[in-house]
Amino acid sequence: MSRAADILQFCTMPFKRIEEGDIGYFRELLGPTFIHTDRENLERCASDHTEDLKFLPEVVLQPGSVAEVSAIMKYCSDNYIAVTPRGAGTGLSGGALAAHGGVVLDTKRFNKILNIDKRNFQVTTEPGVITQVLQETLKAEGLFYPPDPASKGSCFIGGNVSENSGGPRAVKYGVVKDYVLNLEVVLPSGDVIWTGANVLKNATGYNLTQLLVGSEGTLGIITKIVLKLIPAVTQDLLILVPFRSSVQACEAVNAIFLEGYTPSALEFMERDAIEWSMKYVNTSAIDLPPDIAAHLLIEVDGNNKEELYKEIEAITEIVQRYDVGEILFADAHEQKQMLWTLRRKVGEAVKSNSVYKEEDTVVPRAELPQLLTIIKEIGREYGFHSVCYGHAGDGNLHVNIVKAGMTDEAWNTQLPKGIRKLFTEVVRMGGTISGEHGIGLVQRPYIDIAFNDVQISLMKQIKNIFDPTGILNPGKIF
Ligand code: LAC
Ligand code: ZN
Repeated sequence: MSRAADILQFCTMPFKRIEEGDIGYFRELLGPTFIHTDRENLERCASDHTEDLKFLPEVVLQPGSVAEVSAIMKYCSDNYIAVTPRGAGTGLSGGALAAHGGVVLDTKRFNKILNIDKRNFQVTTEPGVITQVLQETLKAEGLFYPPDPASKGSCFIGGNVSENSGGPRAVKYGVVKDYVLNLEVVLPSGDVIWTGANVLKNATGYNLTQLLVGSEGTLGIITKIVLKLIPAVTQDLLILVPFRSSVQACEAVNAIFLEGYTPSALEFMERDAIEWSMKYVNTSAIDLPPDIAAHLLIEVDGNNKEELYKEIEAITEIVQRYDVGEILFADAHEQKQMLWTLRRKVGEAVKSNSVYKEEDTVVPRAELPQLLTIIKEIGREYGFHSVCYGHAGDGNLHVNIVKAGMTDEAWNTQLPKGIRKLFTEVVRMGGTISGEHGIGLVQRPYIDIAFNDVQISLMKQIKNIFDPTGILNPGKIF
């Protein structure tokens, strides 16, 4: 069975196929330029960054106004047509894939930053703005929106909100949910609501804003986002610390916090991660002696350089209690950029190397050494090789399982058992099965490990209230 068919055996709802009459309605609504049924556009929206998955939609719609989104949703609810919202397609759990065909609702025309409210440290933006563009625009105004997923140069802020993305800075500044104040949302019925208010405190009723954050496009289409901002930070320092034992690298992570330091990034990369990334971006910038097993990339930031030097010195002393190699202190801008590029490209580098699956395990930070040890044990037991990297400061380890020499049989039948065992261990440690990539399509078969029947039933009832016909992003989460 193909991988896509394998996933779809969990999905059984037969939606109405798109017919000429539907196309006619959408063409009338949007005009001929913003409705696509040609192979190229369908292919473009058939995959995202998740593994090698591909699901062709029947039509791609690119609405340009809230009224158009509302009309599409009402029409699709009334006619039982599946709708899959899509941002930039950089997701890693298959959230933007039209697993049941139907409409892909492409948000790329919602690309305006609507209002930078400097007085209140807030921005109102449309969802189709590239995260880095938003950050740089705000920075020019002395404002800071910290969440920085690896794909920040191409992902959309709307996708980040839908997935509750994280990124390296989350360890100090928090994830997307910590910045979302209010959302304008089009419900599957076509009704348009705001979820809250543009305030820093809100004790008024249920928190619909946070319910929508991370709901993976299953409850409504986000059309406006109000974000909290903080004052821009001007200085940072970065070090790369090589360790001879990867478990020790994980132990050092917690030691840094126990001594009272909170870096603005604390990233872990196994040897393969950094080695493959260097090959992928074609550089030999980092010396990689054969006895080095892993690296920590540690950044501190603030506005007082002297304080930062003291902080990085203290952190250096802490990591030197472990078996480390020569620490690289990156002071030049280009060197910092290069190290961050290497870190951000790990995922792509692994993908370019082999068919792979990316798990997004997260445990309480002090359990990280135990997590890494267990991953490797399970890998030996089930015969898979993993490349581990990620946001160690958050206890969030990405486990890239590479197919490489594994047989199809082992990949399709043995590996899911290994993943199930891994997730069971993660939950036993007090963690959960996704820290920042979401459940989407690919982690859906494992959701029962994170939640029992009562919890899943509650979530399904919430879904049912928002989307009684189940047309919005079907096949995701559960
Ligand atoms: C990263 C993405 C994969 O941390 O979450 O690189
Ligand atoms: Zn990540």
